[in-house]
Amino acid sequence: MKNQLENIYKSATEALENASSINDIEEIRTKYLSRKGEFNEIKKGLKDLSDEDKRTVGALANEITQKLETGLKLKYDEFYKKELNEKLQKERIDVTLPGKYTQAGHTHPLTSTTNEIVSIFQNLGFSVVNDDLSPEVETEYYNFDMLNVPKDHPARDMQDTFYTKLAKNVVLRSQTSGAQIHAMEGKNPPICVVAPGRVYRNENINARKNNFFHQIEGLYVDKDITFGDLKGVLNEFIRLYFGASRPTRFRSSFFPFTEPSAEIDVQCIMCEGKGCRTCSGTGWLEILGAGMVDPNVLKGVGIDPDVYSGFAFGMGVERLAMLKYAIDDIRLFFNNDIRFLEQFKD
Ligand code: DAH
Repeated sequence: MKNQLENIYKSATEALENASSINDIEEIRTKYLSRKGEFNEIKKGLKDLSDEDKRTVGALANEITQKLETGLKLKYDEFYKKELNEKLQKERIDVTLPGKYTQAGHTHPLTSTTNEIVSIFQNLGFSVVNDDLSPEVETEYYNFDMLNVPKDHPARDMQDTFYTKLAKNVVLRSQTSGAQIHAMEGKNPPICVVAPGRVYRNENINARKNNFFHQIEGLYVDKDITFGDLKGVLNEFIRLYFGASRPTRFRSSFFPFTEPSAEIDVQCIMCEGKGCRTCSGTGWLEILGAGMVDPNVLKGVGIDPDVYSGFAFGMGVERLAMLKYAIDDIRLFFNNDIRFLEQFKD
């Protein structure tokens, strides 16, 4: 039995010497030291020996098993280090290399202009009506009828408004003024809202006109609202948007849904009123349409014009952005030329 043990130990040590990987080590461990391994098989025979032999052979068996275990452990550690080093070498990364640059997008200038204007009005106490309440695909009812636009008004002409084939009375909204009706319908004053959105018109496209653009509508209805409130709010808006008080001019005008109506000019920001190409020599730039909400419009949504009054206004986002940033062609906003857009990173 002693010889058997010596032989197994010899072949185990040889196998260990020839081992070349952690895998080999594991195989040797299973072959010799596991429960069904060769040493255990031999140890089973111990019970048939004399007490004396049991002691000596048992001690030898333990000694050999321990030696083998130590040998396995040393080799294991050696291979583990070696394999780890190889892996680290192979997967080596240079942490000093610069990272991969992913270009981040930024807000489109029309979006940031809209956000800026809307937040000015929010600070003045207006809340926001969005497309959920007042959609781009609209019925004539909201786009015209309820805004006191007569059936035969030229603004309804196919030249100006895009009619859809969805149904007879469905149009792409030609103005955000329909939001006024959505905001008032079924509600009681005070109503104080702005409504930004895209509008569509069947225009020939040129440097000043596109067949869709963006507007921001405003509406304030309450008791005792006067034209003075309208002037105060719009002058404050102009001061905040252009960054300084500038002279304004309220010109009498006509819109079917306001009475009286006005167009508001701001002193030309290019020439300070002296007269230049941008303002066609007049010294003034038109930036807004506005007026006192027509009593007919209030009646239509069930608000008593003898108790309540209000003002409304509408402005073009492209126009306001073009004036602030001295942009001379509206098409630049829609061509997606990165050289243009990149100038508006905030
Ligand atoms: N909706 C008008 C347009 O597109 C602009 C406008 C004028 C809106 C006067 C108003 C207003 O609310 O009171 O030309």
